Amino acid sequence: MGWNNWNAFGCDVSEELLLTTSDAIISLGLRDLGYDYVVLDDCWQDANGRDKNGKLQPELNKFPNGLKSISDHLHSKGLKYGMYSSAGEMTCARFAGSLDHEVDDANSFAEWGVDMLKYDSCYHMGRVGTPTVSFNRFKAMSDALQATGRNILLNLCNWGEDLVHTWGMSISNSWRMSGDIYDAFTRPDDLCGCNTLAPGDVNCVAPGTHCSVLFILNKVAPYADRSIPGGWSDLDMLEVGQGGMTDEEYKAHFALWAGLKSPLFLGNDLRSMSPKALSIINNPAILALSQDPHGRSMTRVRRDTNVAADEWGIGETHVWAGHLHNGDQAVILVNFGGKDIDIKVSLAELFIPFGPGGSAPHNKFDWAIHDLWAHRMSEATAESLIAASTEPERAAILKAANWYNATEIPYEKGLREEDPRLFGEKIGVVKAGGVLKEKVKSHSAKVFRLRRVKKEGEVFKGKSIDRVTKDEL
Ligand code: GLA
Repeated sequence: MGWNNWNAFGCDVSEELLLTTSDAIISLGLRDLGYDYVVLDDCWQDANGRDKNGKLQPELNKFPNGLKSISDHLHSKGLKYGMYSSAGEMTCARFAGSLDHEVDDANSFAEWGVDMLKYDSCYHMGRVGTPTVSFNRFKAMSDALQATGRNILLNLCNWGEDLVHTWGMSISNSWRMSGDIYDAFTRPDDLCGCNTLAPGDVNCVAPGTHCSVLFILNKVAPYADRSIPGGWSDLDMLEVGQGGMTDEEYKAHFALWAGLKSPLFLGNDLRSMSPKALSIINNPAILALSQDPHGRSMTRVRRDTNVAADEWGIGETHVWAGHLHNGDQAVILVNFGGKDIDIKVSLAELFIPFGPGGSAPHNKFDWAIHDLWAHRMSEATAESLIAASTEPERAAILKAANWYNATEIPYEKGLREEDPRLFGEKIGVVKAGGVLKEKVKSHSAKVFRLRRVKKEGEVFKGKSIDRVTKDEL
């Protein structure tokens, strides 16, 4: 979790941007929700290329005090420092890339105190086309980073090429699986390559840019389950707060990225945050999906394309679901179509991974429905948090709102201790063998945590429901 400058600022980067943004991360309470990586994307390099010793160098007009001073500053604030390069001759913005300079550059990153490297794939010099060729190109940097002895996360950015979801986890911590996101929910755009691929076809040659939230979800759906603790599909940086989507669309985008365990990199200008955007990204009940200790992505249970279309000719609904560490089940019902729709899903269908055809033990219990947006921060509180000018003032606002602080209570502990701030609000029950049915407005999502209703004297006391087999019932 953290922030990356690319979506809001592109190449307009500077020391000042990073430092003022890091102040905002802290004062808005975002660091204490887990957003602790500040990532400098492309365009930090000197346009004249490497120095006479072959080392990458920053553009001094943008970074007058060099890069180590930035990481020192971030570390002193309890934040981490992310940087960017490309496994190519040049980066995507045509600055010097790291291909065949991996050891030198990894050493520079380590010297600069870098904690994460986003590693792009532009200008790869033709070293692409099969999984092995791409794997070797990226592995060179993975090995070089490891050899520095510094713990540096590696975030691959080859847009899903060469089946990265089949090998990314062995050399990196996350891998981008699509072309670049843009600030649109369903709108198709020719700049997003392969937007006419059939569902399930992962062979996209020119992934491009301007990929919508829906496009990215459809692309990752066939292999969402490849995310494992320590290695995650990266759905790209968030667009929340950028202005191109509605509040409901941003809520859906954010919850899906959290539920699918994508890295959560905020992509908006944190120094001019709107109260609405803040109250989306700071919802601890949604963040607890992202940070759930079980560490598996939600997967798509159902996609229905036979629904009323929106203004872009898109009409589809999705049901996404996933198991959580404490036995709860996360469920997201999304309506990408043009009309409000009742979306239904049975317990039998939700729990197919535990036994097909309604045979899962889970199907025999009642499940309480918890709405995870129920305790979204009020607009008035978010507004006063943004407007407050001193640290004590902000701390008082967060305290009065009883806001979750993951620095004090890590999510794993909060979940274990059933901190109510992570569980939304109970709004109903799905009876054993029953069906979850909810009205979902056009271009929005409902986000639930289903909690098994424990029965007095139940036979499975002391034993997690996940370990109960059909035969034991
Ligand atoms: C590629 C990446 C983006 C961004 C730019 C920078 O397009 O996919 O996320 O890093 O390069 O040039």
